[in-house]
Amino acid sequence: MVTTSASPRDGWSSRTAFVLAAIGSAVGLGNLWRFPAEAGQNGGGAFVLFYILCVALIGLPVLLSETLIGRHGQASAPESVRRMARESGASAHWDVLAGMGVLSAFMIVSFYCVVGGWVLYYVGVFINDIAQTGAGGGAFEGRPAEDIEALLPGLFGNGTLMAGLGLVFLAITLFFVMRGVSKGIEWVATWLMPAFFVLLIAITGYGFVTGEAEETIAYLFTFDFSKLTPQVMLAAVGQAFFSLSLGVAGMITYGAYAGREVNLGQTSAIIGGADTAVALIAGLCIFPIVFAAGLSVTAGPGLMFQSLPVAFQNMPFGSVIGFAFFMMVGFAALTSSVALLEVPTSWAMERFGVSRMVSALVVGTGAGVLGVLAALSFNDLAEVRPLAMIPIFANANIFDALDGVTAKIFMPLGAILTCVFVGWVADPALVDGENGIGGWLHQTWRALVRYVCPAVLAVIMGFGLFG
Ligand code: PFF
Repeated sequence: MVTTSASPRDGWSSRTAFVLAAIGSAVGLGNLWRFPAEAGQNGGGAFVLFYILCVALIGLPVLLSETLIGRHGQASAPESVRRMARESGASAHWDVLAGMGVLSAFMIVSFYCVVGGWVLYYVGVFINDIAQTGAGGGAFEGRPAEDIEALLPGLFGNGTLMAGLGLVFLAITLFFVMRGVSKGIEWVATWLMPAFFVLLIAITGYGFVTGEAEETIAYLFTFDFSKLTPQVMLAAVGQAFFSLSLGVAGMITYGAYAGREVNLGQTSAIIGGADTAVALIAGLCIFPIVFAAGLSVTAGPGLMFQSLPVAFQNMPFGSVIGFAFFMMVGFAALTSSVALLEVPTSWAMERFGVSRMVSALVVGTGAGVLGVLAALSFNDLAEVRPLAMIPIFANANIFDALDGVTAKIFMPLGAILTCVFVGWVADPALVDGENGIGGWLHQTWRALVRYVCPAVLAVIMGFGLFG
């Protein structure tokens, strides 16, 4: 245990465990499923380069700000903020920034588990394929590509199956959150993250050698300035926060289980670097196959689920590779959904003085209800437009509204408040005692947190939402 002696809470068993768990939280469906889909829908290279800029100039400073609030507070996210505020002589109401995060994490985990359910479905599809045609040949032998692409719409049409699979994924998440930090959450991260990296590299290597590598590089890394609209910028900011688990108090929550020996500056750089590398590798993994198969890059949510199975058809051992790929996506998704569920669970435990078990069960049940609504928004509730009054969300169904509001409003807003709190409100002595950086790096970080991040985020949000 590495928590301070004043705090008998459960915590990460080592520095490596914290790093792996935080990377586990960051790397997930955001990198593998959402990043390629967003890049494809927002013009490719312009989005990707602006995304990288957002990670470096906004994401990393906010990541460090969140982890330091958590480590200092050693409590649930809202309580950690209150502690730092009290010790700085500021209003405890600053906890609103974490309160909003708790709500967003709850909203995200509900639709996140629905997508986790899609992953389970494809794991099942490939197991079935191995059982039917054996492991040696490609996947789905003798079936036309349209049949394979039709799997996802087929699942979307079956509300009961989709809601059921989402609930199974949520139940798995709940299991690990109930076991607690060192025995549950940390276990998932330390075993599954290394397995994930090995599989990702192997599959990307294969796709790159056999697919359209050149076209992919040109698509992802050619910067066409005219494509950089305010909406594309907001999408990139939202994606950066989603991917780094920021603006929803996720990193405050995980930082609170870290001990004094962790250098937060260094750790934030490792987490941000690993997360961005995985997102780019995911792009390099998926687009060569998309181009080679002549599929549309703007396919959005379907991109990963429809393009890759088609590619696996033509690979030797395709069904085994398909199975391995979706297992890997499932692992990555699980280490993130566990982080998401932990945010409201740790808050409710503390707020209502209940056990981890009770808190997780109640929060999980609520997320399950919302998740079923999100799942049904692909079929029975397809016509429901919960945010019809807000122009950019006018056409969003329940699922898209949960995703859009959290990524485009709550996360950037949470990040702005975090920056103002850490940069202007909190006692600099407290902040500097936690952040583990010095010299010019410290000056740069402070300037980014005080001026650049809040200003840039406010402008991008303003133009992206109302421009
Ligand atoms: N960062 C995760 C992903 O990229 O899939 C999603 C996420 C996890 C967001 C945890 C927020 C969070 F607190």
